[in-house]
Amino acid sequence: MIKARIVGTGSYVPKKVVTNHDIEKLVDTSDEWIMERTGIKERRVAERGQTTSDLAYEASHKALKAAGIAPGDLDLILVATTTPDTIMPSLGCVLQEKLRAKKAAAFDVYAACSGFIYGLSVANAFIKSDTYTNILLVGAETLSRFVDWEDRTTCVLFGDGAGAVVIQRHAGKRGILSAHLHSDGALGNLLYVPAGGALHPPTHDTIHKRMHYIKMKGNETFKVAVRALEDVVQEALEHNKVKPEEIDLLVPHQANMRIIQAMAKRLNMPLEKVVITIEKYGNTSAASIPMALDEAVRAGRIKDHDLLLLEAFGGGLTWASALVRW
Ligand code: ACO
Repeated sequence: MIKARIVGTGSYVPKKVVTNHDIEKLVDTSDEWIMERTGIKERRVAERGQTTSDLAYEASHKALKAAGIAPGDLDLILVATTTPDTIMPSLGCVLQEKLRAKKAAAFDVYAACSGFIYGLSVANAFIKSDTYTNILLVGAETLSRFVDWEDRTTCVLFGDGAGAVVIQRHAGKRGILSAHLHSDGALGNLLYVPAGGALHPPTHDTIHKRMHYIKMKGNETFKVAVRALEDVVQEALEHNKVKPEEIDLLVPHQANMRIIQAMAKRLNMPLEKVVITIEKYGNTSAASIPMALDEAVRAGRIKDHDLLLLEAFGGGLTWASALVRW
């Protein structure tokens, strides 16, 4: 049986740390509020001039090294991001050039925080259809450039970073077992950036009205997220005929500690079986799962043949789950 298997991981975060106490100086908030409501203590913020592709490049370099392949071996580069360097070209193409991966086709997957799992599903389909053998999938974001540092309801939440995986065609039982994707465009107004696209191109007015920044109805998003994640996790378990106790490690998107705890409780999993990075990195959107995965790999938390459950929820709205036999 042909499977798409993750054979190398890498991640990278900018050096600059912004703590909750630093943000207390910018907006009316407190370390206690942020910790209690989100579980975030600090986040990384890209330096001036450092872009999403720079973070993606560093993470990719490490993943390729771990996989033992050269950029020239890549058939496809997929980048999950909502904060590309430019609207055009895609971040995938910018990264392809930085890596000098001349043979690879490249494009972006645009599904906000669910982007990495959407990308896994795309990679899985390309491998199963025998189209490609070596795929680089990256989740990379510089959300610090798109949050309104005067809006306390969003600026405390997000951070910058990148995670990457190399996915290869393999015969055997290990690899991506399933990916389930969902969207609900009717709820797009819960989490969006109003301007900068074709609807509201940049003008003095859009800038003056701060329309180029992320807007989120956090509380409503939270409620939809918990329900949707419960459903999509159940879908993955039923599809694979797997019981929650068979899961070795939960690798969730890191949006809110309370959401992560709710999912662990639903699955009856102790927190030792959950990868949690939100305290130090905040919500890095499409980068959070591959960053958490890489951290778990490098900490020796994942053994061959372990069963991993990945889940994410984000703007769109979008949500997704994947089951991976390591
Ligand atoms: N500091 C202090 N007070 C604050 C802050 C802050 N940073 N932010 C909001 N508040 C206030 C609010 O104004 C409100 O005050 P009020 O009661 O006087 O009106 C009060 O705190 C409660 O606000 P809520 O929004 O109800 O707080 P909640 O407990 O829901 O937490 C949060 C907010 C953390 C945003 C939470 O709702 C959440 O995590 N939502 C889900 C986010 C998510 O999953 N997004 C999808 C992925 S992201 C992506 O796709 C890019």
